[in-house]
Amino acid sequence: MRKKVVFITGAAGEVGHALVKYLAKEGSHNIVTMDLRPLPTDLDGLVMEHIVGNLLDKVLLARITTQFEIQAIYHLAALLSTSAEFQPDIAHEVNVEGTLGLLRIAAEQSQWRGEAVKFIFPSSIAVYGMPEIDQSKGLYQRVREWEWNQPRTMYGCNKLYCEMLGEYYSKHYRQLAAEQPVAVDFRSVRFPGLISAFTVPAGGTSDYAPEMLHAAAKGEAYNCFVRPDSRIPFMAMPDAVRALLLLAAAPHENLTRRVYNVRAFSKSAEQFRNRVIEAFPAAEIGYSVNDKRQKIIDSWPADLDDSSARNDWGWQPTYNSERAFEEYLLPNIRQRYADA
Ligand code: SER
Repeated sequence: MRKKVVFITGAAGEVGHALVKYLAKEGSHNIVTMDLRPLPTDLDGLVMEHIVGNLLDKVLLARITTQFEIQAIYHLAALLSTSAEFQPDIAHEVNVEGTLGLLRIAAEQSQWRGEAVKFIFPSSIAVYGMPEIDQSKGLYQRVREWEWNQPRTMYGCNKLYCEMLGEYYSKHYRQLAAEQPVAVDFRSVRFPGLISAFTVPAGGTSDYAPEMLHAAAKGEAYNCFVRPDSRIPFMAMPDAVRALLLLAAAPHENLTRRVYNVRAFSKSAEQFRNRVIEAFPAAEIGYSVNDKRQKIIDSWPADLDDSSARNDWGWQPTYNSERAFEEYLLPNIRQRYADA
């Protein structure tokens, strides 16, 4: 008998790290993880098996599907927006072909089980592309899911297309076949910038906020790569994990969409800097603007409208900005670097 498992890709990354900890604590699933890297040592013993390997390795994926009955996939592996601009072809392979391969597996396993495999997919604010006109971010404050879907980055294009593939596998896969296959249950959240107290991101464009905070906590000087007035929404990592789990658990009949905006608070780089300096008065935070990364941030909305997530599956962030700093970020980050 194959073991029933929840399969998490990109498990050694920021969201994966937090999700594995949460799911392991909850204790109701066997967890199988995969990443190019070994799992961080603080996740030792929390998963049934960790596979070090590449998503694009078809033989490896075939072994996984032979060995396990996959009930749900949390597909977190991706090259983020800045990294993807340096290697757009590789980003396309990993972000799109990697996702397509897993959707195929989900479709196949849904048939065997006679029950839909849940496919939980973090998408991103990067799917939006605000027009390059002065003040456009100011004019269109809270963007809805269907507005401004004109990404400027390879990563944004990849995420938007994968959302569409997910919808396709959920609604129209093999639509001309005589017998309708059991569809994949694809569900996705579009994350704003994420901030963790325990990890720092790699290769994203919203990274200036977590980098500023972690540098200040370590007593290191930091130069922010976007202008002081740059504003996008953010979310503390525990809320990101909650959003994935809440959406995964929502009754199917309550969902009016397959892709939902989520957000917690919106801050400019300067507001973020001021809050960090309030917590770490000796922090040296300056600006050294990278015009190219700035353009990417300028193309992302100043905020997102997450009313569909609120209405359909009761989404509400636990941490507004103040609670995020006071109750989650500062205590944990202080302890992290005090222990280091
Ligand atoms: N945080 C991501 C990035 O900056 C956006 O989803 O690429």
